[in-house]
Amino acid sequence: MPVKISTRDIYKNYGAVEALRGVSVEVHEGEIHAICGDNGAGKSTLIKILAGVEQPDQGSLLVDGTERHFDTPNASLRAGLATIHQDLAVAPDMSIYQNIFMGAELTRRVLGLRLLDKRRMRSDAMGYMSQLNDTITDMNAKVNALSGGQRQAVAICRALRWNANVVILDEPTAALGVRETEQVLELVRSLKKNGKTVILISHAMNDVAAVADRVTILRTGKVQITLEGGSLTADNLSHYILSGEVNRVH
Ligand SMILES: Nc1ncnc2c1ncn2[C@@H]1O[C@H](COP(=O)(O)OP(=O)(O)O)[C@@H](O)[C@H]1O
Ligand SMILES: [Mg+2]
Repeated sequence: MPVKISTRDIYKNYGAVEALRGVSVEVHEGEIHAICGDNGAGKSTLIKILAGVEQPDQGSLLVDGTERHFDTPNASLRAGLATIHQDLAVAPDMSIYQNIFMGAELTRRVLGLRLLDKRRMRSDAMGYMSQLNDTITDMNAKVNALSGGQRQAVAICRALRWNANVVILDEPTAALGVRETEQVLELVRSLKKNGKTVILISHAMNDVAAVADRVTILRTGKVQITLEGGSLTADNLSHYILSGEVNRVH
C-alpha cells in the first residue's frame, strides 16, 4: 500500500502547552486509519494541522510523498483532504443539495446571466449520496428533517463534491445512538469501498475496532503505538489507552 499521508516529527505548542511532541504517522492509501487516545492527547491538534486550521511549529507533512504546507483550510481541500468537524456545520433550514453545494454552487449561463443550476446540483448531489446511502433520495428535503446519521452523510457528500480522496472525520458517532452509529460506520465503509482514504478520530473503541484497518494511539502529544490485524480489538485498544504501554502484547 502506498503511503497517502505522512507526518514527520511534528511539534505544536499552544503557549506553554506542548500539544504535539514529535508525531510521525503514516496513513496508507485506501485504508481506514483511526486516531485514538485520551482527552488532551493531541488528536484534534493533529487533525487541525492536516486540515490547514493550525500550522506545525516543526516537522513536515507529506501528501503522496510530496511535502505540503497548508496555510489555510482551502489549501488542504485543494490537496484532496476534506475534514468533517464534529459540529458538521450543516445548515438545517436548507435542503440537502444546497448543503452539499454551499459556498460552491453550480451555475449556468442563460442569455448572459449566471443562474443557479439547481437541476444539475440536485442530480450531482444524488450521485454522491448514492455512493453512500440508498435511503436518502429526495435532495430537496431539508436537513432538519434528517437523523444525525443522515446529516453525517450530507457532510460527507460535501467532501465528495470537492473531489476529496482523503476524508477526515472527527468523532462522527459521538452524539449518536446505537442504530445511527451503525449507519455512520456503514458510511465509513462505503468511503473505503469507493477508494477513499479515511482518517477517523474516535473515543468509541467498539466503533474503531469494527471499521479501522489500523489505529494510532496518541498519548500526551506522542505516538504511543499503532495497532493492526489481530491486535486491533476493542479490549486491546482500551488496555493500551489505560495502561500507556508501548509494547505489543501478543
Ligand atoms: N487553542 C488552544 N489553546 C491552548 N491549548 C490548547 C488549544 N487547543 C488544544 N490545547 C491543548 O493542547 C492539548 C491537546 O489538545 P487536543 O489536540 O484538543 O487533544 P484531544 O483532541 O486529543 O483531546 C491539550 O492539553 C489541550 O488543552
Ligand atoms: Mg479533540
